Amino acid sequence: MNKLNLGLIGGGFAGQVHSIAFRMMKGFFGQKVKNVSLKVLVTQNESKGRKLAEKFGIDEWMGDWRKLMSKDNIHAVIIATPNYKHKDMVLEAVGKGKHVLCEKPFALNAQDAKEMYDAAENAGLKHGVNFNYRKTPAILLIKKWIDEGRLGKIFTFRSSYLQDWGTDKDGLLNWRFQKKYAGAGSLGDLGAHIIDMARFLVGEFSDIAGIASTRINKRPVGALDFGVSAEKNDKIMGDVDVDDICDVLFTFKNGAQGSLSSSRLAKGRKNHFEFEIYGTGGSIYFDWERRNEVLLYSQEKPNDQSGFSKVIVGATDHPYSDALWAIPGLGIGFAEPFSIQLFEFIDAIYNDKDFSPSFYDGWKNNQVLDAINVSIKERRFIAVL
Ligand SMILES: NC(=O)c1ccc[n+]([C@@H]2O[C@H](COP(=O)([O-])OP(=O)(O)OC[C@H]3O[C@@H](n4cnc5c(N)ncnc54)[C@H](O)[C@@H]3O)[C@@H](O)[C@H]2O)c1
Repeated sequence: MNKLNLGLIGGGFAGQVHSIAFRMMKGFFGQKVKNVSLKVLVTQNESKGRKLAEKFGIDEWMGDWRKLMSKDNIHAVIIATPNYKHKDMVLEAVGKGKHVLCEKPFALNAQDAKEMYDAAENAGLKHGVNFNYRKTPAILLIKKWIDEGRLGKIFTFRSSYLQDWGTDKDGLLNWRFQKKYAGAGSLGDLGAHIIDMARFLVGEFSDIAGIASTRINKRPVGALDFGVSAEKNDKIMGDVDVDDICDVLFTFKNGAQGSLSSSRLAKGRKNHFEFEIYGTGGSIYFDWERRNEVLLYSQEKPNDQSGFSKVIVGATDHPYSDALWAIPGLGIGFAEPFSIQLFEFIDAIYNDKDFSPSFYDGWKNNQVLDAINVSIKERRFIAVL
């Protein structure tokens, strides 16, 4: 196996999870990834970059992402920067012949997403979007059940992704609260994960109607160089122009229907990503805060055992249990799905396999987000292209 060197852009929340996931991946997948190195970390603040690089054992750090792209010894990049930077960085990386794993939401709109997808495809490079939740072992197990027909024909998918960190009125007006940097608020941040899950498990969206609101309209202006801590200036307030809360009804092209709710103002909810799926043969309920178990209802059970049964994920024949669990049922944390994602991406590069979720999935996701945004504005159902 030849050497494969990675560069990581972004040392904020997501960049740090990727750094941890890289180290986990080396442990979980051992020999299979022995020639892979995380060589360079790029952050806007070089001194923060140095500290992080030392912490995570990354050889080199720098402040200029274009310098990373011009390095011939970097074969693939992970882009973990605010959403508005994804397009420039993806196009530059692809232009320089590098494979790319990009954070979600993929782009600010579907038009940009299509341009990014076409560029990577035409260059014959591997491309992926970090819809990390897909790689949760419990989700892979649910997907297996669906593919085996255990739920029968699906007719309902209902999901919420709720957090409460936005309730802090003193929280800075960072990039996540500004449309030009984020594209959307809770919808792009959390709803994009639901959309990906729905596409992964149920199918393509058809028609959509959404409502959204912004409840904290002004926030203190802080750091403009995102990810760099700065003194909060309470006297200067700036406008929030993205949604805090969003609710959407939809149909799928295969005839199923469903709903999603995203919010960063759901007091008491930390990372409450839950969904339920109902089909002709059975049902499942899953909550990512209890990510090591799935509630399964199967109509094959006798009447005196009717109801949901709890399946503890990680039995020996469950997806990735061999790599992640020495003893069945020990459970996982937030970074493990990132490490599986990275492993599969690297495997796709080495062995010329298809990788998903790809930029195609990123583009389809942005199409759904665009349709929801039009629907919210025009207050009517919109067909997803
Ligand atoms: N998949 C997930 O579960 C998940 C979780 C969190 C964030 N994200 C995504 O990851 C991305 C980053 O989010 P975050 O929470 O880490 O943000 P953040 O604000 O915590 O960190 C952003 C990082 O990007 C760097 N950066 C910004 N502009 C740069 C530039 N021009 N050159 C070099 N570095 C630059 C900053 O220095 C900082 O290190 C977003 O797209 C976000 O939606 C995904």
